[in-house]
Amino acid sequence: MDSKLDYNKEIDESMQGDATMVEGEQTNSKKLYLESYGCQMNFADSEIVASIMSQNGYNTTKNVDEADVILLNTCSIRENAEQRIRKRLTEFKKKKDTNAELKVGILGCMAERLKSQLLEEEKLVDIVVGPDAYRSLPDLVKETETGQKAVNVLLSREETYADISPVRLDKNGVTAFISIMRGCDNMCSFCVVPFTRGRERSRDPETIVGEAKELFNKGYREVTLLGQNVDSYRWNVNSKKEIIDPAQPTVNFAQLLEKVALVSTDLRVRFSTSHPKDLTDEVAETMAKHENICNYIHLPVQSGNTEVLKRMNRGYSREWYLDRIKAIKERIPDCAISTDIITGFCGETEEEHQDTVSLMKLVEYDYAYMFAYSERPKTLAERKFEDDVPEEVKKRRLTEVIDLQQASSLKNNQKYLNKEYKVLVEGVSRRSEEHMFGRNSQNAVFVFPRKDKKPGDYVTVKAYDCTAATLLSEIVE
Ligand code: SAH
Ligand code: SF4
Ligand code: F3S
Repeated sequence: MDSKLDYNKEIDESMQGDATMVEGEQTNSKKLYLESYGCQMNFADSEIVASIMSQNGYNTTKNVDEADVILLNTCSIRENAEQRIRKRLTEFKKKKDTNAELKVGILGCMAERLKSQLLEEEKLVDIVVGPDAYRSLPDLVKETETGQKAVNVLLSREETYADISPVRLDKNGVTAFISIMRGCDNMCSFCVVPFTRGRERSRDPETIVGEAKELFNKGYREVTLLGQNVDSYRWNVNSKKEIIDPAQPTVNFAQLLEKVALVSTDLRVRFSTSHPKDLTDEVAETMAKHENICNYIHLPVQSGNTEVLKRMNRGYSREWYLDRIKAIKERIPDCAISTDIITGFCGETEEEHQDTVSLMKLVEYDYAYMFAYSERPKTLAERKFEDDVPEEVKKRRLTEVIDLQQASSLKNNQKYLNKEYKVLVEGVSRRSEEHMFGRNSQNAVFVFPRKDKKPGDYVTVKAYDCTAATLLSEIVE
């Protein structure tokens, strides 16, 4: 994929696997078709699901027609994300109508949000499993073999799947995601995630470092540490639990980042998502200290207006956010910064929207994920505020910020022209077999002649032209 990597956003790309060989795979006779939606954490979860299923008789397939079980790992973040999934389920229902043996299951956030409602209302699915219940999937699939429906949507305070070695489905063999925590304890008023993913819990750092080492030994050269709010990562060393006893030594996110960076200087480390209220100077200092921790931070602002941020319950002001940007730039002058923006949140006035515009002009983001506000059931905003910005106003404001970001992305890419950058080769360019693509530390995408380069190589490139999305470059020998 030679476009910017969508770390934390809704992606409608399916991830179906041809899994790498894991224990049990050679003797497996059944086939699982797995499709994933939503953020990278969901994609990482699918790799856990593939691993659990491969040890219980199922290999993944890319061909839906040969599947015994179809699983959809779903997202609830915005209403249109759910609509797309419902449509997909209707398509699979047709397959079920002609094949009584075929089982269809829904996993992830939409499964957690709607629970057994999905079984009762529409009879579209046989299995409903929430994000913390994947270990029970093989048993639940078995239950359905006698014609029953099966549900497990229990959320857990402890489950991190720390011992499960994910089956890498997105096989470029170079970049991989590692979940370092689950859930979210913030209550941003617009957000459904705390309801679908449960309480925040951190994963044992030893298992994280172990996974990074294993990936490196298999030839991977970049890991992205994933969490909804990585800056609140905490692990209690003595109790081997994430429950915090202030008297006990703990590992925080900066320390974890360093541990992973020390696996090898040839292993790049990225992370997502940072929360402006929790991002510490120590994290920026750790990034500056290690060349292989990439100079890129995804720091979602959501709005540039303090009053809107208050209504969003984000826990910071415009000034606080700009101070965090300053703290990053002071320590890492060439750090790239991306963000998330919501337009038309409850009560957003034109003036308040203009504050988002002015903040974008100040920060000049390298990249932004922008969304029109979509009201989600049970959230604080749904209960407390009216979704009163007309749809066309939300859309107009969205177009405005998208246009602004396009100009800013282009300007940022132009900064990279005619300079040398170390790029990690990720694969063949989508547009030309004769070209490869890779990213620099700042996550900018470079395309360059293939020559003898292969995925996993580091090359030095110099760009001569660019668009807002891609830099055209030559290899510097
Ligand atoms: N944990 C991350 C965000 C995860 S959701 C963080 O705190 O930044 C990814 C993005 O989706 C959010 O940053 C937000 O911009 C957007 N989003 C979440 N809920 C939304 C909603 N109800 N309507 C529109 N966009 C939403
Ligand atoms: Fe949602 Fe806020 Fe948690 Fe991000 S930090 S997942 S936006 S509640
Ligand atoms: Fe991710 Fe969507 Fe759930 S963004 S956490 S899959 S609601």
